[in-house]
Amino acid sequence: MKLIQTVKELKAQLDVLRKEGKQIGLVPTMGALHEGHASLVRRAVAENDVVVVSDFVNPTQFNDQNDLIKYPRTLEADCALLEKEGAHIVFAPSVEEVYPEPDTRQFSYAPLDTVMEGKYRPGHFNGVCQIVSKLFMMVEPHRAYFGEKDFQQLAIIREMVKQMQFPLQIVGCPIVRESDGLALSSRNARLSTEERQQALNISKTLFASVDFSKTHTVAETQAFVEESIAKADGLELEYFEMVDGLTLQKVNNWEDTDYIVGCITVYCGEVRLIDNIKYK
Ligand code: PAF
Repeated sequence: MKLIQTVKELKAQLDVLRKEGKQIGLVPTMGALHEGHASLVRRAVAENDVVVVSDFVNPTQFNDQNDLIKYPRTLEADCALLEKEGAHIVFAPSVEEVYPEPDTRQFSYAPLDTVMEGKYRPGHFNGVCQIVSKLFMMVEPHRAYFGEKDFQQLAIIREMVKQMQFPLQIVGCPIVRESDGLALSSRNARLSTEERQQALNISKTLFASVDFSKTHTVAETQAFVEESIAKADGLELEYFEMVDGLTLQKVNNWEDTDYIVGCITVYCGEVRLIDNIKYK
């Protein structure tokens, strides 16, 4: 496995491999890798000849500077995990390497990026599209792998690929959970033992809401989740929305569409956690 820090070297290495006819898979990450990332890398390794993992905390997608400062940076441990999972190249550039000058591009995929995270984290998806489009241009992968935990991000990246006609396939991969149900996230490392226990009520509520939904309306299911989180110790709901899985617009009835997902964001102490669940 090679650790590469410059775009020039990355492109030079990949040009050779591409000319040899190798299929290239890209797993974009911000590091602080865990089993959820490992599952993306394993899938990429199974489906490609060469797997590039980017490990870069992208400043342009943070609307909260405190969050950017506190974001864990663990390159050495990340490389050990990636080596074990069979990645071929780790691309860990500096901020100056990726943004030699400010990226002034504006991406707008309304209404996908104006709801949920888009409403609460202004500019976040613009930053995600800036870095992901740059990575696509630097790596020119055949396939790129993203987790379904960031459900809205995945929908927006699919739309960006369609509109910008990037010649690659986006592969969405299922959420990986701890055995007790907590969705894996790099932010879980910031939870105290007590908060970790409290955070469990997020996935528990979502799972219980799927059973509840079988005999109740969309509005009743929405209220069930909101009330359960309000009752749970240590959790503060930012939003829970039941949306069409493709358009991300709110649904009012089960019959509105055949793909309905509930997306939730909850503060556990100072840590902002997201999760989602499919109803149909
Ligand atoms: O999902 C993430 O970790 C980031 O948003 C991504 C896609 C790596 C872009 O920085």
